Amino acid sequence: MARPATPADGIAWVTGASSGIGEALVHRLVSQGWRVAVTARRAEALTALAQAHPGQVAVFAADVSDTAAMAQTLSAIERDFGPIALAVLNAGVYLPVDSRRPDPELFRRTFDVNLMGVVNGLAPLIPAMLGRGRGHVLIISSATGFGGMPTAAAYGASKAALINMAESLRIELEPLGLRVQVATPGFVETPAQDDNGFPKPFMISAQRAAQYLTYGLTSGAVELSFPRRFTWMLKALYALPKRLYIPLVRKQTGWDGDHPDWPK
Ligand SMILES: NC(=O)c1ccc[n+]([C@@H]2O[C@H](COP(=O)([O-])OP(=O)(O)OC[C@H]3O[C@@H](n4cnc5c(N)ncnc54)[C@H](OP(=O)(O)O)[C@@H]3O)[C@@H](O)[C@H]2O)c1
Repeated sequence: MARPATPADGIAWVTGASSGIGEALVHRLVSQGWRVAVTARRAEALTALAQAHPGQVAVFAADVSDTAAMAQTLSAIERDFGPIALAVLNAGVYLPVDSRRPDPELFRRTFDVNLMGVVNGLAPLIPAMLGRGRGHVLIISSATGFGGMPTAAAYGASKAALINMAESLRIELEPLGLRVQVATPGFVETPAQDDNGFPKPFMISAQRAAQYLTYGLTSGAVELSFPRRFTWMLKALYALPKRLYIPLVRKQTGWDGDHPDWPK
């Protein structure tokens, strides 16, 4: 059966490592003895990260939404740096949607990065891991994937898709030796945090999020949900009948008439 990957099994690969949660996670994985391949579009930010950990971090810049580039990236990582034992597919974007004027382009870009970016990593990765009979994949979703939130019509839908997809993968791949986990963080203070004016209860630092993730990687949990008080409250909210939770979310987010974006 699948077990957590260790640095003795190979290297780690983190996408979306040029800032925020991904960058903090790389520092933490290195401190635990991992050698880490890092991917994102901003090569200069990745290079700075690699310079902070000479020999431990290697840069493989790529756009996760490009299927061919991701296949090439995976080959290059495994050829030049080592077999991937642990992959953290973390790259993501939050593009707020104004539901009064749904913009297909915003949905397309969101799904290209958040969903297809993960699929583009999994496509070459899973056969390689199956060939070795082991591997560990962590997909970064979001607590926004639990249910609808204002402005998150595209983001939340893409993150809900990841939660569902991760469960399918876990069902099928665990008996073959691959461990699949999905993370559903609450609010984390990073450049991705938009300025939507919502309250952001229980917001944690990227460093704290990285701690939760590395702890979760060694656990058997399917879903790494944190900070727990917030994500469990959200789960309880979404377990309510829909006719109750919709007005509750509207009230909690200030989307009940006072919000600056609310139609006058
Ligand atoms: N912050 C939160 O409150 C929160 C909560 C739950 C889940 N999350 C999730 O956590 C993950 C990391 O987000 P973050 O908060 O740390 O935000 P962030 O600092 O903006 O990091 C996003 C990362 O994704 C990379 N990325 C974006 N588009 C990419 C593309 N097309 N190709 C390759 N890399 C791309 C960015 O790198 P480049 O721009 O250099 O490409 C960056 O490294 C995301 O999946 C996000 O949805 C965040």
